[in-house]
Amino acid sequence: MLLNVQDLHVSYGAIRAVHGVSFEVDEGEIVTLIGANGAGKSTILNTIAGLLSPNSGRITYQGQDIGGLDAHKVVQRGLALVPEGRRIFGNLTVSENLRLAGYQLQADERARRMKRVFELFPRLGERRDQLGDTLSGGEQQMLAVGRALVTGGHLMLLDEPSMGLAPILVQHIFSILKEINAQGTTILLVEQNAHMALKIAQRAYVLETGHIVLSGPAAQLASNPDVQKAYLGA
Ligand SMILES: Nc1ncnc2c1ncn2[C@@H]1O[C@H](COP(=O)(O)OP(=O)(O)O)[C@@H](O)[C@H]1O
Ligand SMILES: [Mg+2]
Repeated sequence: MLLNVQDLHVSYGAIRAVHGVSFEVDEGEIVTLIGANGAGKSTILNTIAGLLSPNSGRITYQGQDIGGLDAHKVVQRGLALVPEGRRIFGNLTVSENLRLAGYQLQADERARRMKRVFELFPRLGERRDQLGDTLSGGEQQMLAVGRALVTGGHLMLLDEPSMGLAPILVQHIFSILKEINAQGTTILLVEQNAHMALKIAQRAYVLETGHIVLSGPAAQLASNPDVQKAYLGA
């Protein structure tokens, strides 16, 4: 087991956002956590990434406790977060954004990783000198994924990469995620877009108001009538 989350509770002051969530991610998998707006998806990812502290519960990565570690230490362990809403630097170019993501690396290693990003996303290569703000939403999402690839990591945490993107772009980005996974990166994907997430994941968990209410193989959840009614518009 690569990531294990046990009985996680997270609050914002008096507001309890996550109440006793447990799930796991195995080496090599794509696992998705699907849920409506406000279900607690970002809270869970941000807690794993060290941006929020859990009230209680246990988070282990490669068998070691990472719950409550600072975000930069979590990155050092090999987890890379692609945050909700992309969070790129709009006043920096594509190349500068990528370089900054790899500031801690030796120059040749950073260059090697940036080259890989431009191979996975040729559109970013073509726009390497363009400012972040002037990219389309889809290109900004590519850049956010690219930044996580340059930072490096064995487990990529993705917070709603489909948000605000046209279906064709979502398909494109998800196909690249599959490729990144096939090249050896394990993926934990949280999504409101259950349709696409269940297509690329092997396993899935359904999150409702801070609780996991269903879990299983993604294909099985996709054919579950309750999931279809609530999340797939059937
Ligand atoms: N900074 C915050 N302060 C107070 N409540 C928050 C904050 N961020 C999120 N919440 C609340 O926590 C719950 C879970 O939110 P979130 O994790 O963002 O859900 P999701 O990512 O699934 O949309 C929601 O009820 C939301 O209103
Ligand atoms: Mg969210």
